[in-house]
Amino acid sequence: MKNPDLVIRKAKLPGQANLQDIVVKDGRITSVSDRAAEKGKNEIDAGGRLVSPPFVDPHVHLDAVLTVGSPRYNLSGTLIEGIRIWGERKDELTTADVKKRAAEAIRWEVVQGTQYIRTHVDICDPDLTALHALVELKKEVKDIVELQIVAFPQDGIIRYPGGAVLLEKALAAGADVVGGIPHHERTREDGLESLDIVFKLAGEYNKDIDVHTDETDDDHSRFAEYLAAKTIKEGFKGSVAASHTTAMHSYNNPYAFKLIGLLKEAGINVITNPLDNIALQGRFDTYPKRRGLTRVKELLAAGVNVAIGHDSIMDPWYPLGRGSMLEAAFMCLNVTHMTGYEEMEQIFDALTYNPARIFRLEGYGIEAGNPANMIILNAGSKINALRQGAEALYVIKEGRVVARTEPARRYCREEEVRLEVPGIYE
Ligand code: FE2
Repeated sequence: MKNPDLVIRKAKLPGQANLQDIVVKDGRITSVSDRAAEKGKNEIDAGGRLVSPPFVDPHVHLDAVLTVGSPRYNLSGTLIEGIRIWGERKDELTTADVKKRAAEAIRWEVVQGTQYIRTHVDICDPDLTALHALVELKKEVKDIVELQIVAFPQDGIIRYPGGAVLLEKALAAGADVVGGIPHHERTREDGLESLDIVFKLAGEYNKDIDVHTDETDDDHSRFAEYLAAKTIKEGFKGSVAASHTTAMHSYNNPYAFKLIGLLKEAGINVITNPLDNIALQGRFDTYPKRRGLTRVKELLAAGVNVAIGHDSIMDPWYPLGRGSMLEAAFMCLNVTHMTGYEEMEQIFDALTYNPARIFRLEGYGIEAGNPANMIILNAGSKINALRQGAEALYVIKEGRVVARTEPARRYCREEEVRLEVPGIYE
């Protein structure tokens, strides 16, 4: 019998008391056990570190990444100024420009443990330059990452001339998911009509839906309700995501309670983007200032599938970001008061199993029979990974190491300092 391609020794797997050996053959996990007798062609000693299925980033804008400051910085810090600056930058897009920046940001995400990325791509452009560029790039990077492309009408489906036609063209040209932005249409009525178009196209092209929904502090922005009701009526349960839903932060509690029940009933996936929204929302407030994230804790408690997206990486909306899903999650757990022990573990799952459901990934997880997709984090537990923003020492896709990081070592008075305490959060 031939030796396995890879054996990972002494892996910490959540829920397992003993460290585990993971055996990989032909790109698949063949066994997970206390002690594997076989010797691998390659062996990695995880040394008690956490081995996790890879991160899944369900929301980023790869067409806009790394454009911050071009042509100018966002001085008001508002979403609207961001849209205006992007409108100016959009005129200068070329295929090469989009692919170069997107490929760089993808490398940043992959090296930090992400293997699945859902990117929105602005289709309010008669040439669909960014869309075509990302459809090309998707094939070129598939050995390291699986991309899903959302046709995203940044300037509105009704508001932007020919928006609905461009949305359909984008689907015909290779977009995987139908997007929308109802709160940015001119009126509530136009917003509702834009959602009708989204559902019609999703039905015709057999696509999932992912709508930028109520990304505003306006408590009168209530498109999530219509999205959910339409999902139920038209039989789209499980195929629809509501991204952002920040207005839920401002709704009165009885209405939020009703809406959360409706989202649950409709099987709506909620994608929260903590880095962008903690910076963008509340900009019209004096004091006290709203935090502006959706009600993550209450949604999870009601059984709604909530996932965390990175959203922007150095673009007109958010000037920072480094492609770290752990950083996005760290922001999320602080801002949403999810600092209870189990809550922090739940937040880690919002980077892994929860978005994997949105991607409809099969065979996701460290189990015999599944594709050998996993990351070895430089921490012994989910909580320590979040706390430390742990490096992904190895990123393994279908049994191959596609990225690796050499961890920093720190010394004080020549004595090594490790930023963890044995016994805490292990
Ligand atoms: Fe977004």
